[in-house]
Amino acid sequence: MGLLKLPLVVLLCSVFSLLSFKALCDASELTVKFSETPQAFSHYNSTTFVFEVLVGGSGACTNCNITCKLDDGIASNCESRMVSYADLKDGNHTFEVCPNGSQGVGCGSYNWTVDTVPPTANITASTNFTNALIVPINISFSEPCTGGPGFVCSSVNVCNLLVHGAGKVIPNSLKILQPNLQYSVLVNLSSTAQYGRVILIMDKNFCTDSAGNKFERNKNSNFTLRFDRRTMAVNLTTHVPGRQLVLDDANGETRLVLATNNCVKLRICITFLVPVLNSSAEILKSLEPEILYSLPKRQGKLLPLNVSKDDPGHRRFEFMVDGCISGMAIVTVGIDENSITSIHGTPVSKVDPITFLFDSLRPAPMLITPRSDYLMPEISTPPSDFLGPDVNFLRTREHNIFLWIEFKEPVFNFSGSKISIKGGELVRQVISGYLCV
Ligand SMILES: *[C@@H]1O[C@H](CO)[C@@H](O)[C@H](O)[C@H]1NC(C)=O
Ligand SMILES: *[C@@H]1O[C@H](CO)[C@@H](O)[C@H](O)[C@H]1NC(C)=O
Ligand SMILES: *[C@@H]1O[C@H](CO)[C@@H](O)[C@H](O)[C@H]1NC(C)=O
Ligand SMILES: *[C@@H]1O[C@H](CO)[C@@H](O)[C@H](O)[C@H]1NC(C)=O
Ligand SMILES: *[C@@H]1O[C@H](CO)[C@@H](O)[C@H](O)[C@H]1NC(C)=O
Ligand SMILES: *[C@@H]1O[C@H](CO)[C@@H](O)[C@H](O)[C@H]1NC(C)=O
Ligand SMILES: *[C@@H]1O[C@H](CO)[C@@H](O)[C@H](O)[C@H]1NC(C)=O
Ligand SMILES: *[C@@H]1O[C@H](CO)[C@@H](O)[C@H](O)[C@H]1NC(C)=O
Ligand SMILES: *[C@@H]1O[C@H](CO)[C@@H](O)[C@H](O)[C@H]1NC(C)=O
Ligand SMILES: *[C@@H]1O[C@H](CO)[C@@H](O)[C@H](O)[C@H]1NC(C)=O
Ligand SMILES: *[C@@H]1O[C@H](CO)[C@@H](O)[C@H](O)[C@H]1NC(C)=O
Ligand SMILES: *[C@@H]1O[C@H](CO)[C@@H](O)[C@H](O)[C@H]1NC(C)=O
Repeated sequence: MGLLKLPLVVLLCSVFSLLSFKALCDASELTVKFSETPQAFSHYNSTTFVFEVLVGGSGACTNCNITCKLDDGIASNCESRMVSYADLKDGNHTFEVCPNGSQGVGCGSYNWTVDTVPPTANITASTNFTNALIVPINISFSEPCTGGPGFVCSSVNVCNLLVHGAGKVIPNSLKILQPNLQYSVLVNLSSTAQYGRVILIMDKNFCTDSAGNKFERNKNSNFTLRFDRRTMAVNLTTHVPGRQLVLDDANGETRLVLATNNCVKLRICITFLVPVLNSSAEILKSLEPEILYSLPKRQGKLLPLNVSKDDPGHRRFEFMVDGCISGMAIVTVGIDENSITSIHGTPVSKVDPITFLFDSLRPAPMLITPRSDYLMPEISTPPSDFLGPDVNFLRTREHNIFLWIEFKEPVFNFSGSKISIKGGELVRQVISGYLCV
């Protein structure tokens, strides 16, 4: 490969060789004149030296032994006045020729740098995710890349930082942080797109280093920036089953009631629209559980569970109750607004808290005698409230009597068929609200 470039090399070398005279051209002294050398900065890892040995500037060296040496290697005979080296390491090298003849010794040397590593550049930003409109980008070159036009960014269409997607470079924001090595520039993200991504990528073949290596991209020459300016939705759910309760028969008004007696399944799940920066522990801190009403004052603790494998990326969190509440409690769980931040930097928006009833007590009905407006004088003094479906004996003349069954707490699936009657039958059943039957 090097041989093809020989004429140019020879031309350049005649210039370098003048510099490489070590000894002054005095009548009897030996000098070395290089006619072929590598370039001072070479991208080849092999090279050839061709030289002449002159006595007093022109005469021939008699009884001449010539040794050649590369760097700290062993000197070898090079009478042929030509020597080649291959597999050179990147870095500075010194080639030395020492002719030793009857006229004495006069060495010549040549220094050059082998650089086979192509220049490259990294693109960095302070974050991969943003909710901003304008994002600063840094471009760092591995070495000066000034051959050819070098790095330019003079307009949106003439910029060696290419922007694909919903964004544009802002050319007049280009700053030189370190000459020929480090630049910064702003990228303007589309304000019409709510979310998306832009790919920033270094151009191809726009510059070379001093050894002539062409610019090459590396994996960091390609940067994907994701932006999202949507409000940060979050879903707060539990495994607590819900039931529609009829509040008002006439209007058909219903209300969803979450209730459970299953402590094991008491879990709170939080699903964010996008991944969040916060840890499970921080999210736990921002949860606002509130026990509105509690029988035996014992409170369960929430424990974080591992993020679901099906939904990676810090988007879904699950907490379980550690230690059951015994008795009954009305529990409300909310999230402290603005305490959780998405990877794009957007705080989580308001979410309605969830409220559920936890109740491990068995429901107990009470049979009570009619309220005052139905009260019949013939009935003997009503006993005080009694628990359980046992029947107490009361006396009356009436054929129809009213009986109230009152549960101490809301129950599901209760109907007239659950009432057993001896010596009579159920004539009419009125469900009042969801409390009394
Ligand atoms: C020198 O370069 C050639 C091709 O340019 C390559 O095949 C060889 O592996 C290189 N040698 C070393 C030691 O890097
Ligand atoms: C190699 O040589 C170049 C050019 O003379 C010089 O700038 C550089 O500092 C040298 N590097 C080392 C490691 O000596
Ligand atoms: C030059 O050659 C002479 C005779 O062989 C020897 O004595 C002398 O050491 C040599 N000088 C060098 C610098 O090699
Ligand atoms: C040159 O080297 C040869 C052997 O390689 C030796 O016989 C001769 O004396 C040397 N001449 C000088 C001037 O050193
Ligand atoms: C080559 O570099 C060495 C140090 O690395 C220096 O001593 C020597 O003078 C240099 N030679 C030339 C011809 O520049
Ligand atoms: C860009 O480089 C400057 C100077 O080195 C540094 O202060 C800044 O943090 C860098 N910014 C990015 C986004 O890497
Ligand atoms: C951006 O993402 C890459 C790869 O996913 C990662 O190596 C890098 O650390 C991230 N940068 C920042 C600033 O988070
Ligand atoms: C580019 O990134 C690579 C890998 O992260 C690193 O090793 C290298 O030093 C960086 N180069 C520059 C010029 O910042
Ligand atoms: C960013 O782009 C928008 C159009 O998408 C433009 O209106 C705005 O002026 C640009 N901002 C800068 C700083 O160039
Ligand atoms: C840059 O990275 C993106 C995403 O990783 C990839 O789709 C694209 O092919 C890459 N482009 C180049 C030129 O490597
Ligand atoms: C929240 O739930 C609704 C309805 O199930 C669903 O459409 C939405 O995508 C969920 N949002 C998140 C962030 O999971
Ligand atoms: C969530 O993360 C953000 C950003 O790192 C931080 O400012 C905030 O304090 C964290 N929230 C909690 C509850 O620790």
